[in-house]
Amino acid sequence: MATWFEGDFFDVLRKERGTSFGGQLHLFEEIGSTNDEALRAVATRAPSGSVWLARSQKSGRGRRGNTWHAAPGESLLVSCLLRYRGPTERLLGLSLVVGLAVREVVLSKLPVPSSGEGAKIKWPNDVFVRGKKVAGVLVETRSEPSGEIGVVMGVGLNLTTERFPPELPAATSLRLEGAEEAAIRLEIVLVEFLGALERKLAIFLENGLAPFVQVLRDVDHLRGRCLRVGKVEGVGAGFDDEGRLLVRTAMGIVPVVSGTIELI
Ligand code: BTN
Repeated sequence: MATWFEGDFFDVLRKERGTSFGGQLHLFEEIGSTNDEALRAVATRAPSGSVWLARSQKSGRGRRGNTWHAAPGESLLVSCLLRYRGPTERLLGLSLVVGLAVREVVLSKLPVPSSGEGAKIKWPNDVFVRGKKVAGVLVETRSEPSGEIGVVMGVGLNLTTERFPPELPAATSLRLEGAEEAAIRLEIVLVEFLGALERKLAIFLENGLAPFVQVLRDVDHLRGRCLRVGKVEGVGAGFDDEGRLLVRTAMGIVPVVSGTIELI
């Protein structure tokens, strides 16, 4: 029985809200990485909606080989599995959709929620509040011999952290942004995130990214900013329907599929 997570309370919340994700919940006081554990479980036939939750990670991973730092018990560290059959190109915008689910939760916790200003998405996987990173998303896949793809959606969301290591770029937490303590209980945040993710995934799997493009444009942290990504340099100009970042350059609009954004 975990002392840091009230499973019964979580189950009540899940049932009240009709959330099916989290029906299989794997809890870890300490783990290497919830994403790694979820990826391993793809081969064990773990069903869609299975969730791995940790109080702390020894080797939490971010995008592009970065380490994800989080002091024990101060963050939501979660991975959720989707079993997917279909073209992998259709998954391109998925991390933005997961980001929108995180953003929905973040926005609901801010003292003065305001549509775009309160919480933004920094392409392709960060959630920002007042110019600081509050959460990151790491989507990874593992293909099965059956042709099915195990898609693992990992999220790190800073809940109660008050001090971040100096080497981290500007970061914040829901507590630092003025969220009420009762509203950032782990069980509550988890159930709200899973509910938002389940609803958005259903839309995404049916219709792709198109239904989300307008809201993504409204909450785009990079829009109008001067940036460099790989060899492309210009101004953030939104996203296309496949989730590619659009950069306005001297040569016209250039779509970018992946890379690390440098603000200049
Ligand atoms: C990023 O900002 O680069 C993505 C960070 C994703 C971190 C989460 S924490 C839970 C899950 N397990 C991991 O090892 N990484 C993701």
